[in-house]
Amino acid sequence: MCGIVGYVGSKEAADILISGLRRLEYRGYDSAGIAVFSDGEIAVRKEKGRLSDLEEYMKSAGTPYGNCGIGHTRWATHGEPSYANSHPHSAGRVTLVHNGIIENYIELKKDLEKGGYTFASETDTETAAALLDRLYKGEPIKAIAELTRKIRGSYALAILFSDRPDEIYAVRRDSPLIVGLSNGESFVASDIPAVLKYTRRYYLLDENEIAVLKESGVSVLSLEGESIDKEVFEANWSLEAAEKGGFEHFMLKEIYEEPEALKNTISPHMIGGLPDVLNLSLGDKRLAAVNKIHIVGCGTAMHAGLIGKTAIEKLARTPVEVSVASEFRYVNPIVDKNDLVIVISQSGETADTLAALRLAKKMGAYTLAVVNVVGSSIAREADGALFTSAGPEIAVASTKAYSVQSAVMYLFALRLALVKGTMNENEVAEKSAELAAMPKLIERLIRDLDPTCKKLAEQNKNTESLFFIGRGMDYSLSVEGSLKLKEISYIHSEAYAAGELKHGTISLVTDGVPVIAIATQTPLFEKMISNVKEVKARGAAVTLVCRTDAAIADDVYDNLVLMPEISDLFMPLALAPFIQLFAYHTSVIRGCDVDKPRNLAKSVTVE
Ligand code: AGP
Repeated sequence: MCGIVGYVGSKEAADILISGLRRLEYRGYDSAGIAVFSDGEIAVRKEKGRLSDLEEYMKSAGTPYGNCGIGHTRWATHGEPSYANSHPHSAGRVTLVHNGIIENYIELKKDLEKGGYTFASETDTETAAALLDRLYKGEPIKAIAELTRKIRGSYALAILFSDRPDEIYAVRRDSPLIVGLSNGESFVASDIPAVLKYTRRYYLLDENEIAVLKESGVSVLSLEGESIDKEVFEANWSLEAAEKGGFEHFMLKEIYEEPEALKNTISPHMIGGLPDVLNLSLGDKRLAAVNKIHIVGCGTAMHAGLIGKTAIEKLARTPVEVSVASEFRYVNPIVDKNDLVIVISQSGETADTLAALRLAKKMGAYTLAVVNVVGSSIAREADGALFTSAGPEIAVASTKAYSVQSAVMYLFALRLALVKGTMNENEVAEKSAELAAMPKLIERLIRDLDPTCKKLAEQNKNTESLFFIGRGMDYSLSVEGSLKLKEISYIHSEAYAAGELKHGTISLVTDGVPVIAIATQTPLFEKMISNVKEVKARGAAVTLVCRTDAAIADDVYDNLVLMPEISDLFMPLALAPFIQLFAYHTSVIRGCDVDKPRNLAKSVTVE
């Protein structure tokens, strides 16, 4: 997820672009740049690092003066943070900035190189600039329409053509773009916070609409060049609320971003309907020879590893051992050079996980990072990396990262099953298609679950202690649910394998003790209901989470939460929003600091 801003009007564009980008740094901040029409040329200034690094650079390189320009702050998905990979990107008469992922850029780039184009960066964005330059014959709308037919994936583009000074063109598919309206000036941005201080009136650009911004005003056209009448949206938010996209907290915003994050993570790793663990130096042959997999991480990242363990063992029949990084690094782990060690980390900077990675490398194993930050220490030091594309996760409590990490685990498990021959191509394609359909299903589920979780939170706001119980993947999910609740609502909670209750914990279950029983795994459902009856018999207040098609007597639960009928394998992806929204609303009702809980840091870069 990156930040885009554009301005045309009577004021100096550079100042407005920089201030807009500052408001968008929560969308990405590993490099930044602007391009301004200045004395008839397009002047580009860009720099690796934060926006302040770009401002520092412009002190010496000079600020381009002019009234029309575009700007970008980057969250790397293709190519490490560097000067060359920073936006804006230029090719011939085209200069543009991009937010999104162009899935077919490799084939497009090869074709453009054959046509004589050369590339300075590793980005998919530069390919879009070159392709648009090749298509541009003096008619911007036609060229842009043709571009949208040739590129696959998600994009929001703000474009300058060198022979059309003081005009900005903008188009989007799947990535957001808004157009700001004001007298004698126009704005375009990924998000309202970038320009809220200049205007509260917007067009919300829809898919495949092209906006043409001039000082005189904005026109919106279809790809065929027909004019479109747009409704004006009035934003009455505060600036602070706008940064959260109108949500009360970053955590809630990030839960609602899960469908987009899942889509942006799954689609680049899917080629021809099959999971493709892209550009891994490991190769399929070496992957097939792997006899044991270690998955290492901390906190939520390790919990995603638990999902990975079940998926890999179920689909590829390869043994997996999941370890907490802070333990792995000191127990002198038994790691064979034919083993594969997967380290999972959202930030890519967690000290214990980085140390575990270094130890695994020293022991000769191939190391694979599942990481959200391109260019992070873990991403750079691992032998291979599978990137999640969740965009920046600001709230300390990890939500969308857990979902996308689990999704990458599923993709990896399906690839491994194909390579090891434990599943044939049709079986893998079928499962992959089901996984690719999850973002849409989760989008609806989040909306349906939100009020339910708020009610559940209200019921439990004063509880001292709360139990999650489950079996199999439901237990793995319960572990994450318990952590979420503890870390942001400060309620003590434990997750228990439901079959273990009678071996001790059930002594804690007395009248009114809340128990959230997650019972979605079909083969284990009956067993789970017996465990639920055990705790119910001792007075527990049971919230039963099960599939819509489950047959249950209504004296078994106090609250019932029904999940859609999807395969057991992918149920954790559907359950994640439930446990996250429950923890979120409980924290809000208890007046806790949801986004910055006490004693916690977003990335634990010390031991
Ligand atoms: C999760 O809600 C916590 N914030 C914490 O457990 C986190 O998952 C852990 O510190 C690992 O962070 P990482 O994914 O950036 O390595």
